[in-house]
Amino acid sequence: MNEFQKELTGALRKFCRENIEPHMEHDDHEGKFRMEIFKGLGDYGVTGVTLPTEFGGAGLTYLDYCYVLEEIAKHSVPYAVTVSVSSMVQTIIKEYGNKSQQEKYLPKLTSGEEIGAFALSESHAGSDAGALKTTAKKTTGGYLLNGTKMWITSGGIAKTYIVMARTGGEGSKGVSAFIVRDGEKGFTFGKAEKKMGWKTSPTRELVFENCFVPDENLLLTEGKGFTVAMGGLDRGRVAIAAIGVGCSQRALDESIKYALTRQQFKQPIFDFQGLQFMLSDMATETEASRLLVHAAAHSIDNNATDSKLCSMAKLKATDTAMRVTTDAVQVLGGVGYTSEYPVERFMRDAKVLQIVEGTNQIQRVVIARHLKKENEHHA
Ligand code: CAA
Repeated sequence: MNEFQKELTGALRKFCRENIEPHMEHDDHEGKFRMEIFKGLGDYGVTGVTLPTEFGGAGLTYLDYCYVLEEIAKHSVPYAVTVSVSSMVQTIIKEYGNKSQQEKYLPKLTSGEEIGAFALSESHAGSDAGALKTTAKKTTGGYLLNGTKMWITSGGIAKTYIVMARTGGEGSKGVSAFIVRDGEKGFTFGKAEKKMGWKTSPTRELVFENCFVPDENLLLTEGKGFTVAMGGLDRGRVAIAAIGVGCSQRALDESIKYALTRQQFKQPIFDFQGLQFMLSDMATETEASRLLVHAAAHSIDNNATDSKLCSMAKLKATDTAMRVTTDAVQVLGGVGYTSEYPVERFMRDAKVLQIVEGTNQIQRVVIARHLKKENEHHA
């Protein structure tokens, strides 16, 4: 970590300790999202980290962004996720949007005044995203959207949605991507999901019934929606991985602190070799995940996004977060299972990191496809 990154994360840690941490246990219980926290993160300059300054972003690197997400996640995985999904929407509009789309939508997203959300999944099209059924039928001056999107992070609190819908035939080539705003006629929110974790981050259904979206809200051209979605997800997966690292680091820190003070059999439990082996494995796996996240972030910063590395980082860091948070509950024992300590919350929050932005089984599919391609190349 360079001096700038130390300063950035040090100040952010203070902000999170003062403004996020005190609410987390209560809000996790109540399922309460606070817009003022998100706006506070915006005022702090971390809701549009990698976007150029001309669009109100901070103009920093993807590596800087990974450090930012890791820090927020140490205090709250759900707020880190809200930032990361909104940032993925910004990246999509910056990469695939035209000048007028960028000027119209980016400043409010980068500043944290508004939240962005990404709508790809449907009830029957999760891993097989190319099978989505929501339609966008051409009409005069635009498209009519019909269908239901499922499990949408920030559904209901976001204002700008990237929605993938079918304009052509079957499969990924028939998919287009649209910018859809909350409040459009024919766009409503369905049920709010009750979840195991991420309780302060709302997850909703989006329902489109003859929702008119003007031509100017199409990203790229018809049929390019899958490329838009996959391009966004490559980077998004590294962000989820960075959140996984923050989640693991917090669980590890809590475990060490507890093991050093908890006395059993007349000594701190840290002194038992069984615990030392566990803590050392937790620390090693966390550091290995972090290094993979940084390698993937470097590929993005060098304009050579390596999808294989992005998937590897997501797979490793989120499987590690699940394991490390589960072990943390074990280290703390009985109290670890109660809400007196935050480790059970981090364990619940870790689980869905293995599922969102492509399950870890899908990450393995992506990695295997790259391995096959590389082999053909070398043959
Ligand atoms: N970048 C750019 N384009 C890409 C790409 C990438 N990384 N990967 C694929 N594409 C393009 C390909 O070029 C291809 O086009 P051509 O045929 O013209 O080359 C097209 O997309 C289709 O690619 P595939 O043939 O590989 O597609 P597939 O149907 O076999 O599916 C898959 C591949 C990897 C399984 C994909 O469906 C997938 O990633 N599934 C998981 C879906 C997912 O991640 N959902 C997350 C939901 S969002 C979320 O969770 C956010 C949140 O709320 C937190």
